[in-house]
Amino acid sequence: MDKNFIYISDNGITNFSPKSLPPGKSQVFIHRNNTESYEIFLHKIINKVEKINESLFAFKNICPHQKIPLDLKPGVFLNYDNSAIQCSTHGALFRIEDGYCFKGPCLGKYLEKITFKIKNEKIIFCINRK
Ligand code: FES
Repeated sequence: MDKNFIYISDNGITNFSPKSLPPGKSQVFIHRNNTESYEIFLHKIINKVEKINESLFAFKNICPHQKIPLDLKPGVFLNYDNSAIQCSTHGALFRIEDGYCFKGPCLGKYLEKITFKIKNEKIIFCINRK
């Protein structure tokens, strides 16, 4: 299965509406410019919350253990019961809220969180320009 990528413009703007993301699912984005290239995944939790942006979490798709993508199975980032982000290479588990690794070979490290805002129902990632 190929990843269903969405490209992010240099200023972080996307055409992606988080309303289209089903609860419990993730969407992969690619940020690429002359100096860097990386994937971001945006996950929507299953639990109901008041505001849509409280249900969304975004991280770089890089495991702090070996600096490789988390999702060997493209686009799948959570463990079997959707309670944690799981690296598919060695099984490290990370909290969804902040990316903290609470089990596995990179215990105590964090996924890199990406902040974002929602404007006109579209996701805008806060990309650090170099
Ligand atoms: S590469 Fe992710 S746990 Fe080893």
